[in-house]
Amino acid sequence: MDELLRLLRLMADGRIHSGTELGRHLGISRAAVWKRLNHLPRLGLEVEAVPGRGYRLRRPLDLLDAAAISAPLADRFDPIEILPTVDSTNRHLARQLPWNRPRVCLAEHQSAGRGRRGRRWHSPLGASLYLSVGWPFPTRPAQLETLALRSALVLAETLDALGLAGIGLKWPNDLLVNGRKLAGILIELSGEWGGPQHAIIGIGVNCHLPDDSPIDQQWTDLQREMGPRRPDRNRLAAALLERLGAMLDELQRGHPSPWRRRWARYELYRDRPVRLHQGPHAIYGIHRGVAEDGALLLERDGRLQRHYAGDVSLRPETP
Ligand code: BTN
Repeated sequence: MDELLRLLRLMADGRIHSGTELGRHLGISRAAVWKRLNHLPRLGLEVEAVPGRGYRLRRPLDLLDAAAISAPLADRFDPIEILPTVDSTNRHLARQLPWNRPRVCLAEHQSAGRGRRGRRWHSPLGASLYLSVGWPFPTRPAQLETLALRSALVLAETLDALGLAGIGLKWPNDLLVNGRKLAGILIELSGEWGGPQHAIIGIGVNCHLPDDSPIDQQWTDLQREMGPRRPDRNRLAAALLERLGAMLDELQRGHPSPWRRRWARYELYRDRPVRLHQGPHAIYGIHRGVAEDGALLLERDGRLQRHYAGDVSLRPETP
């Protein structure tokens, strides 16, 4: 097993561990232990040195566990990979392309987590869920362009079922709670026209972030919203993967789905004046919901316009 993961497992309980004890378990010297511990703050963990006694994490960790996640999933996803650290779980799956079976990658930490529109996704160790699903479609499904919205809907419904209140969806796939961002989705598609398509669905859910997290928008996390009722990351990942798998199967088979009706339950800004950024341009209109192909419907001068995903964001502002 990876040495970093072994160190994290030893420290996860938040209790004091002496350098000698850690060194013995890891088979390294006390000086080497000290060096490893010094590295943890760079991954987003706060380590406290307790003079004469040892070291402890300021906050205990609930580490990811492949067995706990895969138990309810039968064999839909194979394999489920858990990495202590990676640049980005989406990138990790992209490097393994092409795959011919669905696969899942989770990480405790991302060194270069990616958000939509080239933004960074803040990814400190153990503080959020960083999960990517790779799904090979043998041929392009008729409704592939709805994947972003349907993935966000699955995330909303999963969190709702786990007891989170106040969920709102902002087109195309941002999840907010009482106006603050809780989770985001980055979808990447590859494939030849008419041939197989490979979708990577990357999901980040803030679970318990440090107060001073460098995030340039209003944010929240499950700890702030649910306190001790919050599901641990393994339970959240398992519940999410179960629903995602069912949605992806349905999309692949081209089954009709009432997803728009379900989406409307969480939709933010409906019938309100909004502003849409498209690169350097801003478009103003009234938000009239989403179309069956996933487009945002914007009313301008009495006419309905369709706008598609990409570099589009939405703000509840009047011109
Ligand atoms: C957004 O900008 O709202 C999308 C954020 C998506 C973040 C997730 S975390 C797991 C996966 N790996 C990445 O690098 N990004 C996605």
